Amino acid sequence: MSGRISILISGRGSNMLALLAAIDDGRLAAVPALVIANVPQAAGLRLAAARGVETLVIDHRNSSSRLEHDRKVLDALQGRQVDLICLAGYMRVLGPTLIRAFPCRILNIHPSLLPSFPGLHAQRQAIEFGAKVSGCTVHFVDEGVDTGPVILQRAVEVRGSDTEEILGARILEEEHRIYPEAAHLVLEKRVRVEGRRACILPAGEVA
Ligand code: GRF
Repeated sequence: MSGRISILISGRGSNMLALLAAIDDGRLAAVPALVIANVPQAAGLRLAAARGVETLVIDHRNSSSRLEHDRKVLDALQGRQVDLICLAGYMRVLGPTLIRAFPCRILNIHPSLLPSFPGLHAQRQAIEFGAKVSGCTVHFVDEGVDTGPVILQRAVEVRGSDTEEILGARILEEEHRIYPEAAHLVLEKRVRVEGRRACILPAGEVA
């Protein structure tokens, strides 16, 4: 099984590159249909274009409401018959119109072990809290912030000497591993959502 994926970014796009690399080497059975950024300066845009992926800027400042912006994004996604949407450092909360159009088809990656440290600066939050372990989470996007069913998580030790940047870099390495894995599982239909729980089915079974 394979599907058409769209990646939404706002910045450097390293998770986007990890997804595209996994497509190239066959770990993620998908076609990269479109990369959308909500800010024209997002560095990831050039990286995607350099790999031959269609890119689109849908600047949220050109819309007068979240709904208007979400509708533009929705039009672009539906126009390309996208199966799966991966938020990769996309700094916008999606509204219900967009979320309900793609039930269990929108993923996000977050740099902590949710439900600990949701929202911004998750790595800083983990250090300031004194956590000994943090990590990263790929989850379905629901109408809350970082609240949807968890698909995959990976733990990363927090060391006494860690700065936000150092911890962030170690977590990022794991993000780059689990995001393609999770996207692949979803496209293979090996993730069944039961209430809050996303269950991973063995290879060969489909949800
Ligand atoms: C990552 O840490 C991701 O977990 C968070 O935003 C950051 C995006 O980084 N949601 P990049 O643009 O993928 O490099």
